[in-house]
Amino acid sequence: MASGILRYCSLAIFVILSCFSLSSSENMLQKSVRKEKCNVYEGRWVYDKSYPLYDSSACPNLRREFDCQKYGRPDHLYLKYRWQPNDCTLPRFDGEDFLNRFKGKKIMFIGDSLSLNQMQSLLCLLQTAVPHTNIIRHNNDSISTVIFQDYDVSVMLFHSEYLVDTEVEKIGRVLKLDSIKNGNVWKNVDILVFNSWHWWIRNVAKQPWDYIQTGNKILKDMDHMVAFREALTTWAKWVDSDVDTTKTRVIFQGISPNHYSGKNWNEPGVKNCSMEKQPIMGTTYPSGLPAASYVLQDVLSRIKKPVHLLNITTLSQLRKDAHPSSYNGLNRMDCSHWCVAGLPDTWNQLLYAALIN
Ligand SMILES: *[C@@H]1O[C@H](CO)[C@@H](O)[C@H](O)[C@H]1NC(C)=O
Ligand SMILES: *[C@@H]1O[C@H](CO)[C@@H](O)[C@H](O)[C@H]1NC(C)=O
Ligand SMILES: *[C@@H]1O[C@H](CO)[C@@H](O)[C@H](O)[C@H]1NC(C)=O
Repeated sequence: MASGILRYCSLAIFVILSCFSLSSSENMLQKSVRKEKCNVYEGRWVYDKSYPLYDSSACPNLRREFDCQKYGRPDHLYLKYRWQPNDCTLPRFDGEDFLNRFKGKKIMFIGDSLSLNQMQSLLCLLQTAVPHTNIIRHNNDSISTVIFQDYDVSVMLFHSEYLVDTEVEKIGRVLKLDSIKNGNVWKNVDILVFNSWHWWIRNVAKQPWDYIQTGNKILKDMDHMVAFREALTTWAKWVDSDVDTTKTRVIFQGISPNHYSGKNWNEPGVKNCSMEKQPIMGTTYPSGLPAASYVLQDVLSRIKKPVHLLNITTLSQLRKDAHPSSYNGLNRMDCSHWCVAGLPDTWNQLLYAALIN
C-alpha cells in the first residue's frame, strides 16, 4: 500500500516537473518569437534593378566554384533579386557600418565549403565598401584569416566538415560523435557562425572517415541522420558548457539546400539546375523543408544559451537559379554551392540584421 502511494506520488511529481519544464521552454520560445516584430526569414524574392550589391570581378581571391561570371555564366537575371520579408524591409548591407560596429572583433565561420561560400561573399561586401583599406591575409592548417587592419576586424574561416572531431587511429580515421576539441579555439572568438550538413550525406567513396565512434562503440557505419543529430547534440552541449554567450555571439547557418531533383519544385524529370534562370516566385517551396532542418531545429530548441538560427533554408530553396551549375571552370555540375555575387549576399544581409538587433 505504502509503496503504491510512493510510486503514485513519484509519478505525479514526475508529471508535474515535466509539465513545468515543458511550459517554461514553451514560454521561452514564445518570448523569442514576440521579440522579433518581423520574421525576416518569411518573404519572397523581388526584382530590384539596383542589384547586385557589387561587381564580382572587383572581388579578389574568389574560389572558382563561386565565380560564375568569370567562368562564363551568360545570364544575369539571377543577380537582380532582393529578399523581401513579408512584414518589414531588410537593411541594405552597409560594409563601412559593419566594420565600424565590429571594430576590434573577430568573426569566424566554422564549417564546410558553404561556410567559405558565405565568408567570401562577406569579404566581397566589405571590400566593396572600403576598396582602399589595408588587408592582411594569413593562412594555416585549419584557419584562414583576413584582417581589415584599419578597423582591426578579422574575418576567419575554420574548416570543419562535421564540427565534431575526426582522429587518425590504428584502425583508420575515426569520426568521433562525442568529441569537439576544436571548441577550445572557437570559444575565444567574438562572433561564431556554424554550419554542418553536406558531408553527412557524402557517399562512401568520398567520405573522409573509416569508422564512427559513439560513446564506447566503434562502428563501420550508422544511420547518417542519427549521426548528424548526435554530433549536433555534442556541439549544443559544448555551447551550453563552454561558450560565454555574454561575450560571444553564436549563430547557426541553417541547412543550405541543393537543386538536383526537379520533383522538389514540381518539375519532375529535371535532374540539375542548369536550365534554371529564375527563382521560384511566392513564399513557399513545394517539397517543404529538408529532413535535416527538423533535426537542426530540434537540437537548437534544447540549447539553454542564446543561439540564433540564420534560417536561410526556405529562402535558398526558392533560388534554384542561384547555383554555379557548370560555370565553375571544373567541368562539373554544381547545384550545391552558390554564385558570388548572389544568394550568399542575402545570407550576410540577414546575418548583419541579426547581429545589429
Ligand atoms: C525557418 O523558416 C521557414 C520559412 O519561413 C519556416 O517554415 C521554419 O519553421 C523556420 N524555422 C524555424 C526554426 O524558425
Ligand atoms: C593559426 O592561425 C590562428 C589565427 O591567425 C592562430 O591563432 C593559431 O595559433 C594558428 N595555429 C597554428 C598551428 O599556427
Ligand atoms: C543537366 O540537365 C540537363 C537538362 O535537364 C541535361 O541535358 C544534362 O545532361 C544534365 N547534366 C548533368 C551533368 O547532369
